[in-house]
Amino acid sequence: MIFSKIPKPEKHIFICLQNRPAMHPRGSCASKGAAAVYEAFARQLESEKLFARFALTNCGCLGPCMKGTTAMVYPDGVMYAGLTPEDVPSIIEQHLKGGEPVAELLISPDVWG
Ligand code: FES
Repeated sequence: MIFSKIPKPEKHIFICLQNRPAMHPRGSCASKGAAAVYEAFARQLESEKLFARFALTNCGCLGPCMKGTTAMVYPDGVMYAGLTPEDVPSIIEQHLKGGEPVAELLISPDVWG
């Protein structure tokens, strides 16, 4: 059996692309434009040839649906909320490349019980 190793990313960003039926009480990140956020990450990471350093994965619900679009960055354990495509360049520059989370885009700590 041949097993190909893959490079370990410096950081891994997960974007919630969860969808739910219209009128669902929790709503969803998909209904808040999550696909456009994912696309913005993918375009910039590709255009700057950053996929060798940073991994990007779409995922299901991360929990705080009312705060969508949400994203998690590992290994930092940092969650962003209310993201739009316009927020992506600052997250890539300041957090992924620079190691400093973008404070104004972090989810409010009071979301955690
Ligand atoms: S649907 Fe995105 S956090 Fe729940």
